[in-house]
Amino acid sequence: MTVKVLFVCLGNICRSPTAHGVFEQRVQSAGLADRIYVDSAATGAFHVGNPPDPRTVAAAVRRGYDLSSQRARQVHPDDFTFFDFILPMDRMNLGNLRAMQPRDFRGHLGLFMDFSRQKQYGQVPDPYSGGQDGFELVLDLVEDAADGLLQHICREKLQA
Ligand code: 4NP
Repeated sequence: MTVKVLFVCLGNICRSPTAHGVFEQRVQSAGLADRIYVDSAATGAFHVGNPPDPRTVAAAVRRGYDLSSQRARQVHPDDFTFFDFILPMDRMNLGNLRAMQPRDFRGHLGLFMDFSRQKQYGQVPDPYSGGQDGFELVLDLVEDAADGLLQHICREKLQA
């Protein structure tokens, strides 16, 4: 069985590509690349086809994450059939996904930060219109929640 995880934000050029790259790295390091599939998508359409924001890419590279192969795409209704975990970065995106969610969806739709160990931030703040600090904060929060998510999936889904 493969566990499939989709990270979602507004543009799929800052927060969810960061989560995608960081979590993929955690999965590979744990030797679970054949058990856990990772992707990311946007609720908005404005950046479809674009690579991640250069500020996101630069911040990620400084911590050893490669986001260069990613391209933004929009969430598709079929994602609710394919993915086991759909994890938006904030409550606005969670609300938009809930509105799209088919009645028979049996996966987990909830905030990515629910898997974080820190309790100060319940959402990943949008860094797009701010300074460098915002991109570092995204990485701090995503790294923490990625560890919590991997632990959860290993415990609840992979130890049958
Ligand atoms: P993201 O950041 O949702 O983390 O990818 C944003 C990217 C673009 C815009 C807003 C947020 N935008 O308004 O274009």
